[in-house]
Amino acid sequence: MEIQPVSDEFGAIVKDVDLANLSGDDFVHIEKAWWKYAVLLFPNQHLTTEEHLSFSNRFGRLECGLRRSTTPSIGRIANIDKDGNLLPIDHLGRRFSIGNSVWHSDSSYKCVGAKASLLLAQVVPEKGGETEWADMRAAHDQLPQSMKDWLQNKTAVHNYSFSHAWHGGLEMLSEEDRKDLPPVEHPLIKVHPDSNRKVLFVGRHASHIIGEDFFGSRKLLRRLTQDATISENTWRHKWQVDDLVIWDNRCVLHRARWFPADQPRAMVRSTVAGDGDNPWAVAN
Ligand code: SIN
Repeated sequence: MEIQPVSDEFGAIVKDVDLANLSGDDFVHIEKAWWKYAVLLFPNQHLTTEEHLSFSNRFGRLECGLRRSTTPSIGRIANIDKDGNLLPIDHLGRRFSIGNSVWHSDSSYKCVGAKASLLLAQVVPEKGGETEWADMRAAHDQLPQSMKDWLQNKTAVHNYSFSHAWHGGLEMLSEEDRKDLPPVEHPLIKVHPDSNRKVLFVGRHASHIIGEDFFGSRKLLRRLTQDATISENTWRHKWQVDDLVIWDNRCVLHRARWFPADQPRAMVRSTVAGDGDNPWAVAN
């Protein structure tokens, strides 16, 4: 196995490894690299759904999807059906996926956000359709000291109904299911439990800051996300079929990039639940 860093601290490509047949020692090596680089790309992984879920499970319990009643499974992010036909442009699933084009941390609208996401490319467009990740440890470190001090004890409200209102997220769920996703609170500065590094925790699901002017703080959250995701802090990857990427939602924001609407793109994703007392996590 060869681990090739993309930069000193953020992003690495892991070559010559078969994730379907991974030894315990190799997993330890991978997990350590993941703590350091936060985003790992594994090219040429021919994983079945079961193998994908089983590799994901090595990082922790899996997360059920948008509905608490569902069991964890592979989620499809695709503009084509299972036979490869393009879905109509106004198809709910297609509209829902548009939300992924805005910087976010998966499931931060839940009381415990996701730990990891594992995205595997099945069909890739010729043009565009990259995924981009931003290092929120570096984003924290770059903040002016006065802003770090101000943010230190501040809490943001993350809200599914706020961030999903414009692209079909409300239609996706029944009123009953939405009751399981009330607004939740997350500190703006978190300490990453594995690296002990401080992280700026923002993104599209963050609606406003508690105790501050509602719209003023919403504007500030946008500005913080914008400044955090400057190109020096990001890695953009042009997908090849069978690439698998795992990222750490506790210290990384990500977004999907534009691609022509008539070009097929199909990705599958599993989600590892945040550790601790988490009603969205399902025991192994
Ligand atoms: C996601 O936001 O989880 C998916 C990103 C992508 O489709 O590139």
